Amino acid sequence: MIEHSKPLILDDEQRHVFRVHRSTMVSPDIAAAERDRIFQRCWLYLGHESEVRAPGDFVRRTIAGQPLILVRGKDAVVRSFFNTCPHRGATICRQDAGNAKAFQCFYHAWTFGLDGALIGLPDDAGYGDGFDRGEMGLAPVPRCESYRGFVFVCFDANVVSLVGYLARAKDYLDLIVDAADGAAEVIGGAHDYALNANWKLLCENSIDGYHGLPVHETYFKYLTRIEKRAAEETGVGVVSVKGVFGGAIDLGNGHSVIEYEAPWGRPIAKWSPLFGLAAQPEIEAIRARLREKHGEQRARQMVDMNRNMLIFPNLVVNDIMAVVIRTIWPVDATRMCVRSWQLAPASETEGPRERRLEAFLTFLGPGGFATPDDVEALESCQAGFACQGIEWNDISRGMNREPLTVDELQIRTFWRRWAQMMTVRDTVPA
Ligand code: FES
Ligand SMILES: [Fe+2]
Repeated sequence: MIEHSKPLILDDEQRHVFRVHRSTMVSPDIAAAERDRIFQRCWLYLGHESEVRAPGDFVRRTIAGQPLILVRGKDAVVRSFFNTCPHRGATICRQDAGNAKAFQCFYHAWTFGLDGALIGLPDDAGYGDGFDRGEMGLAPVPRCESYRGFVFVCFDANVVSLVGYLARAKDYLDLIVDAADGAAEVIGGAHDYALNANWKLLCENSIDGYHGLPVHETYFKYLTRIEKRAAEETGVGVVSVKGVFGGAIDLGNGHSVIEYEAPWGRPIAKWSPLFGLAAQPEIEAIRARLREKHGEQRARQMVDMNRNMLIFPNLVVNDIMAVVIRTIWPVDATRMCVRSWQLAPASETEGPRERRLEAFLTFLGPGGFATPDDVEALESCQAGFACQGIEWNDISRGMNREPLTVDELQIRTFWRRWAQMMTVRDTVPA
C-alpha cells in the first residue's frame, strides 16, 4: 500500500462496515502509484476485432497514456504495437483509423510491414555492420490477446492469460456475443468526453444501482410521460418505473455485474409501448429466435434483463438499452477522460439498429439524459473531497444482506481488488 499514516480502506465484514479514504480520489501520489501498479499490470481493453476486419485495417488508441496501434496483418492476425518510430521517436500512425499496406514514418521515411518489421529505409548504405534491421521494427505491446472479439493488451509480459484474468466476467461477454449469434460488431463512431473527477468515481457509478432513481429522475419522468402517451395510442398498459430490481455478483479478480429487470422494455429485445406498435413484431421475432436457439432461461436473461458490468480496472460493458463499451482513463488525480462505443449484432436489421442508436444517444450520450446527470454527480463528489471535515466515503450498503442491485457489493469488489493491486508489487494476483 502507498505510504500513508492510515489504511486507505476499512473492510470490516463482522460489523458490516466498508470505508474508502478520500485521499484515494485526490492524491497525486496515489494516482502515480496507480499508473505503475494497476495500469502497467492489468489487462486493458484496446479495441474490438470488428474495427480491424480486413488485412491492413488499423486503429490508433491511447491506452494508459501510451499511443498504440491495433492492426490486422496479412496473415489475419491482430497485433498491437507502440506508436513510436524506433528511429527517433516520431508517431508512426497519424490517422485514427484506416487501411494500410505498410506504415511509413513521416519524419525520415522508414517503412514497417503490418507485422511491425522494418522493410525499408532511405539510403541504407549509411548504416554500418552494427545496425541490425531485425531489431529496428515497431515494438509490440508485451501482451495482446482477445476474447470473443474484445482485444486487450497488457504492458506486463508476465500477466496471467486474458481468459484467466477475465474470470467469470467472460460468461457475461459470452451472453452478449451469443445474443448476437456469435458475430458482434462495434458501430462506427465513439463518444468522447472528459470530466473533472477521479477516474474511479465513474467506475463506481457505472455499476451503481443506488443512484439510478434520484440522479436520473428526469429520464424516468420522461419515460413515464412518453410511455403513457404511447399507451394511449397502442391501448397497451404502462409499467410504472419504481426502481431497478435484481442482484449484484462478484465475478472474481475485481470484476462485478449488476443484473436487473427492465420493466420499461429494451429497444431491441423487450417490447414496451415506448417503441410503438410497428416495432412489436420485430422485437417479438428477435425474442422468439433467441428462445429457440438458447432455451427459455438463457433467452430470458438475454432479453428481459439489463446488466452493468465492470471489468477491472476501467472497462464497462453495459447491456441495457444498447450494448455499451466504455473505457475510463485517468488524466490526473482529479480528471478523467472517457471513450465509449456501441456493440451490436453484425447481422442486425435496420429497425433494431435505429432504436439502438437512438437509445445510445438519448440516454447514454454525453448530451443524453443520463451522462450529464452522472457527470454533475461525480464532479460534485470531487468538489466535496476538498473539504477536510469528512475523511472517508462509506460503501457499506448491503453488507448485512444478500446483495441487491441497489447495494454496494459490486463497488466493494472493485475496491478490494484495487487495494490488492496497490499492495502486491511483484506478482500479478491470480
Ligand atoms: S523518426 Fe521515424 S524515420 Fe526518423
Ligand atoms: Fe447514472
